[in-house]
Amino acid sequence: MPAARKIIIDTDPGQDDALAILLALASPELDILGITVVAGNVPLRLTLLNARKICELAGKPKTRVFSGAVRPMVRDLVTAEEVHGQTGLNGPVLPEPTMPVEAQHAVDFIVETLMREPPGTVTLCTLGPLTNIGLALVKEPRIAERIQEIVMMGGGLFEGGNVTPAAEFNIYVDPHAAGLVLKCGAPIVVMPLDVTHRALTTARRIAALRDLGTAPAIASAEMLEFFERFDEGKYGTDGGPLHDPCVIAYLLRPQLFQGRYINVEIETTSELTMGMTVADWWGVSKRQKNATYMRDIDADGFFALLTERIGRL
Ligand code: RIB
Ligand code: CA
Repeated sequence: MPAARKIIIDTDPGQDDALAILLALASPELDILGITVVAGNVPLRLTLLNARKICELAGKPKTRVFSGAVRPMVRDLVTAEEVHGQTGLNGPVLPEPTMPVEAQHAVDFIVETLMREPPGTVTLCTLGPLTNIGLALVKEPRIAERIQEIVMMGGGLFEGGNVTPAAEFNIYVDPHAAGLVLKCGAPIVVMPLDVTHRALTTARRIAALRDLGTAPAIASAEMLEFFERFDEGKYGTDGGPLHDPCVIAYLLRPQLFQGRYINVEIETTSELTMGMTVADWWGVSKRQKNATYMRDIDADGFFALLTERIGRL
C-alpha cells in the first residue's frame, strides 16, 4: 500500500462533521496529522468538546486536537443550533472526553505543519467555516504554495443557499476567510450543496449503519436521525443531505464524484448575497479558473464506503 496521505481536518462538529471524522479515522489510507477546530455550528467551546468525543467514540484518543478561531475574521459568529441541537452533537449520549486539547493554537499548527512538511504533501480537509485557514494564510502567505490540495465542504449554485437564499452556511459564517482561501492559488476541490444534496441519509441507509451493531455505528445512526430531521422538514425528502463526509470520501474514492474546473469567487460586500459562491459553471465570465466544483455523486457507492469503514471502528 502506498504511504498514507497526510491530512489536516478543520472542523466545527456537528453531526455530519462527526461522520466525516469517523470515516477518516477508520481509513488507513489517511494519516491525520491533526484535527483543528473552529467555531461554526456551535461555539468553539462545544465544537472542541465534540471533536474529542468523536475521537474517543472511534477509539482514537491519541488523535491531536487543536483549538482554533472563536469567531469569524470580520463578521459576528452565526451558529446553527436549530440544525445540530444545543450541544452541536445531539442524538447519541456520548461520555465527556478525557483526551487533551493540544497547547498549540490551531492556526500555528497549520502554519508550522505546512512549513515543515515537504511542499505538496499535506492536504487540508475543511468541514466548517474557513476562519482557521484564512488566518493561517494571513499569518504565513507562503503556505499557499506548499498545500497539496484543499478539499472543502461549502457553497452552492444550483441548490442556492441553506442559511440565506444565496449562501451556504460554512461560507456565509466567514465569507472573508472563504474569499482568501479561494484566491490563495492552492489546488482546491469544492464539495457544494449541489453535490451533498444528492447524498441523502435515507431510512434504508441509516438502518444499514445501525445494523452494524457497534457503538460507533449506532451512535452514527443516532446522530444522523437527529441531524436529518431539520432538512427533511425543509425539503420534504426521505433523509437529509450528508455534507461533510463527501470531503473525506473524495480522498478515498475520487471516482465517486463528478465536477468541473471553473472559477469560484465569494460575495463579501452585498448583505443581500453575502457569502454567495459565485460559481461560473457555464464559463460565461473570463475569470481565471481556480477550483474543481463538484456537482454529482454516486450516492450508493458513497454510503457503501461510509458504512463499510465505520464498521471497522
Ligand atoms: O452547510 C452545511 C455545512 O454547514 C456542514 O459543514 C455543516 O456541518 C455545517 O457546518
Ligand atoms: Ca461542518
